[in-house]
Amino acid sequence: MAPSVALVIHRCASVSSTQDEARRWVEAGVARAGHVIVADEQTEGRGRHGRVWLSPRGGLYATYVVSPHPQIAVVAGMAVHRSLHQFGVPAALKWPNDLLIEGRKLAGILIESLETEKLVLVGVGVNLEEAPLETAISLRAADGNVGRGELVATIGRGLQFLATEEDLLSKYRATLSTLGRAVRVDLGENRPPVEGKAIDVDPAGQLIVRTIDGDHVVSAGDCIHLRAL
Ligand code: BTN
Repeated sequence: MAPSVALVIHRCASVSSTQDEARRWVEAGVARAGHVIVADEQTEGRGRHGRVWLSPRGGLYATYVVSPHPQIAVVAGMAVHRSLHQFGVPAALKWPNDLLIEGRKLAGILIESLETEKLVLVGVGVNLEEAPLETAISLRAADGNVGRGELVATIGRGLQFLATEEDLLSKYRATLSTLGRAVRVDLGENRPPVEGKAIDVDPAGQLIVRTIDGDHVVSAGDCIHLRAL
């Protein structure tokens, strides 16, 4: 990722997904690294693993256009975590980059590559006013007091800053609430889940889970914290 450039914020009213909007704007030459597309609502917001990301008015829906970085998932998770903490919101970072409060989801991150343009789209969704699901929590319910614009800009600066930070991995290890815990990682259809103790992350940001049959390296999946060990 290039060193810090001014953040250019494009604000939209309603879009299908800020990821698609960003992709179109990049392809049309309107957006480039350092630009962020923010929408008031999304009609087809999407999450990881092909899930729907419910996106009613009042939430934060932003896609940051960034240059590729070998640890972009780590950079993104840390940027959102640090930004929330900067505003006094004590969210925990669950591997790989979910932000939780009281075990409920406050924010999620979706990373997609734009291979043809050699750019990456970092999509961030934060439940500001309401939590659209039982398993979610809103910033308002968590007594957080931060405006959408401030949070969008702080995350953007965090993405730029963290991309140049030394020893990101040890900071990520120290931040992750997953390490040392009993976890189950669901790997998707037709693959058995991996259950054991999360012991480390490797330089690629993959989770190492110690199970009764040895250590498993998990690159993607849904990680569930089972209980504190
Ligand atoms: C997750 O599954 O945890 C990731 C959710 C990412 C949601 C954001 S909202 C802005 C951007 N546009 C989308 O359609 N998705 C991401």
